[in-house]
Amino acid sequence: MTTNSEYRVYTAQSRPDLWPDWNDESHPFSTIWANFLRGDLTDDFYLSKIRNYEELRKFQFFIVRQSPTEPETLVAFAQSIPFFWPELEATGGRTGLSSHPEVLQSLPDGGYDTILSRGVEQCLVRQGLPPLAAPFTDDQARDSTRKSNNRPNALSALSIAVLPEWRSKGLAEMMLGCMKAAARETGLEVLVVPLRPTRKADFPTVDISDYVTWKRGFGPTMGPVGPILAGDGGRVVNGKPCLPFDPWLRKHVSLGGHVVKVARNSIGLWGGYEIIPH
Ligand SMILES: CC(C)(COP(=O)(O)OP(=O)(O)OC[C@H]1O[C@@H](n2cnc3c(N)ncnc32)[C@H](O)[C@@H]1OP(=O)(O)O)[C@@H](O)C(=O)NCCC(=O)NCCS
Repeated sequence: MTTNSEYRVYTAQSRPDLWPDWNDESHPFSTIWANFLRGDLTDDFYLSKIRNYEELRKFQFFIVRQSPTEPETLVAFAQSIPFFWPELEATGGRTGLSSHPEVLQSLPDGGYDTILSRGVEQCLVRQGLPPLAAPFTDDQARDSTRKSNNRPNALSALSIAVLPEWRSKGLAEMMLGCMKAAARETGLEVLVVPLRPTRKADFPTVDISDYVTWKRGFGPTMGPVGPILAGDGGRVVNGKPCLPFDPWLRKHVSLGGHVVKVARNSIGLWGGYEIIPH
């Protein structure tokens, strides 16, 4: 898939050789994650195994910088996973969401961890293979949908990582565009994001439910009991909508996403993010 003359997008299907070697600690993508965004049991177990399944490879993306004078450089990597969401199907799919927005609340409280294990385990069931692992968390154990052999009807983003020297060039947005396109092309009706806010770790004592309401330019300021919000509750100010304080959440909201719920048993929280209409 060509994106422009400088950057090319590939998938793990078209260029399996680009998959990072996670055991190689000198690989730049091995050290890109802040500790609070990585390293739980589900993440460690499932994430690297996605490459083993043909039907999942086309949802893993690489951006390579190409130059006539230098060797190609891998500059960004993104992962996503298709999954079957029974409540979405029961409500009539994407079109049913507008009249039944409460369906969004059926996304699992385990967020990233549950959707990652659900997506991989459902892929195995569809291929007639035994489960890869018993549930690691209570939320995964409650997630009986992981045993479903139904065709996926939704895509979940899992991660986007851009090497530091290539940030702020629109590559993260390009990756989200790739996920939307892949969802459209494969008939997946909705793209959801179990979002991991990149600045949350700077405010460890703030409840995540409060943190996601912080708006850019309005908070936080440090009060006697720690960070306090000096925000406006999300109203329009001077004709402009107040976007979230967290830069990664802000990116998704500015592209049309909206927060659905907090997933307390996840590495991050759920952000609902709808695909561009076909
Ligand atoms: C998050 C990430 C993919 C963003 O990539 P990017 O190319 O900088 O994306 P954008 O240019 O669209 O930046 C989005 C916003 O995040 C900000 N930002 C980028 N990197 C940031 C960082 N490390 N810390 C805080 N803010 C950051 C940008 O300034 C921008 O804010 P703005 O809207 O005010 O301009 C990149 O920072 C990254 O790879 N981080 C490490 C992996 C990670 O945490 N991924 C997110 C969880 S899946």
